[in-house]
Amino acid sequence: MDFHTQVITAGGTARLAADALLLVLVGDALPPGLDAPLADAVDEAIKQGDLKLKAGQTAYLRQVAGVKATRVAVAVAKDGSARALKAAGAAGINLVKGLGVKHLAVLVAGVPELQAAHAEALASAASEAVYVYRTTKPSAPAAPMLAKLTLLAASKAEAKAADDGLARGAAIAEGVELARELANRPGNHCTPTMLAAEARKMARAQGLKIEVLDRKQIEALGMGSFLSVAQGSDEPPKFIVMHYNGAAKTVAPQVLVGKGITFDSGGISLKPGAEMDEMKFDMGGAASVLGTMRALAQLKPKLNVIGVIAACENLPSGRALKPGDVVTSLSGQTIEVLNTDAEGRLILCDALTYVERFKPAAVVDIATLTGACVVALGAVRSGMFSPDETLAADLLAAGEAALDPCWRLPLDDEYDEGLKSNFADVANIAGRAGGAITAAMFLKRFTAKLRWAHLDIAATAWKSGAAKGATGRPVGLLTHWVLSQAK
Ligand code: BES
Ligand code: MN
Ligand code: ZN
Repeated sequence: MDFHTQVITAGGTARLAADALLLVLVGDALPPGLDAPLADAVDEAIKQGDLKLKAGQTAYLRQVAGVKATRVAVAVAKDGSARALKAAGAAGINLVKGLGVKHLAVLVAGVPELQAAHAEALASAASEAVYVYRTTKPSAPAAPMLAKLTLLAASKAEAKAADDGLARGAAIAEGVELARELANRPGNHCTPTMLAAEARKMARAQGLKIEVLDRKQIEALGMGSFLSVAQGSDEPPKFIVMHYNGAAKTVAPQVLVGKGITFDSGGISLKPGAEMDEMKFDMGGAASVLGTMRALAQLKPKLNVIGVIAACENLPSGRALKPGDVVTSLSGQTIEVLNTDAEGRLILCDALTYVERFKPAAVVDIATLTGACVVALGAVRSGMFSPDETLAADLLAAGEAALDPCWRLPLDDEYDEGLKSNFADVANIAGRAGGAITAAMFLKRFTAKLRWAHLDIAATAWKSGAAKGATGRPVGLLTHWVLSQAK
């Protein structure tokens, strides 16, 4: 989608060329300064009971005399926050998106000043609203025609701030869409090989350097833990490394590591049948790394970023990893696999050791790692873990700024107790209690040489139920975090 800003002066709605005008109202009274024909029409809608000035309310008005756009949608925001504008924007866009609207103008009324964060929020609301998954469903209704959004600003200063926000929102939207699209594809389409091909395609289009290691190369490196998960499947594993170079070679890179299990059956520790289909989303971390690299390539911040993805399937077979097996990780630590369904940590630990070679400024891994995190935090906030106070604070702030929030969970040494094994340096599971934390504690054992954080996106990467589908989270959080490191 194309995003623009336009300065609008008094009476401007009479001349504004757009197929629809979305008026986002903040506050419990009609804000002053609206063009009279528009204000009159909204007043009339309120009088007639078609609209209440209450958060979440919307109204659709057709052919408002004195307003050039033939369609006018009104949406009421809870307050002047970016979060509230995003929600109201989404509600308003939903009213008009099916109507053949190609060009939507958005006017925010009732905020003291239009800010970059407002613009970014509206850009992401618009792009999220028009995405339709079609790759394996050709019968799906065509995506809405909405192709251009003009955000109306009251002054040049507002327009400049809005331009900044729109640029960021547009880049993140592209990244979110890529992440959603790849994660939505079923396991027989989105195999590790196809994920690597999509990464190559994106890297070529965006001018990123990319390297894909195959099974032989992964073996030669000594990633025995990653390979042990891959060994049960006929689909070969792929280890993907992408480079965004926006600064001198001497600048230490930020590194993102994504869990790319393209299907998680649990392996020999087979999962129950119900909802197992959703384990095609178990590459959501990998998808978010690809999406973030895509967004960064567009935004061109002055730093270096490396995106790493360990991709394979977790399947049972005559060659599959078994409970009790001991594998040797790239770090040299041996791991007793007590549950083959705790496979994410087995692939991530080798990827985390691998990235030591880049001498990173910081490493963030992103993984749909534990059902326990779903229980702990639900789908609102991703789980975030880090022994580093600054990194934790930066990620928390990035999540707030991106409206893609996370919440920190602890890493006390006492949580490590359950990972002890009589047969290896570490076991891959502890007891049921604190499952998201003990998974993070397992990863922590492989990060002594790193400034590291872990995001558990098990609940936030996709939605279940009638609206089943990938969310593209946490591309927004990650993009904001990387950008914050450039300043
Ligand atoms: N991919 C799953 C985690 C998951 C489960 C994400 C449900 C979203 C919804 C992961 O590989 C897994 O199976 N984890 C196990 C770990 C357990 C065996 C210690 C889990 O959470 O049950
Ligand atoms: Mn699993
Ligand atoms: Zn998994």
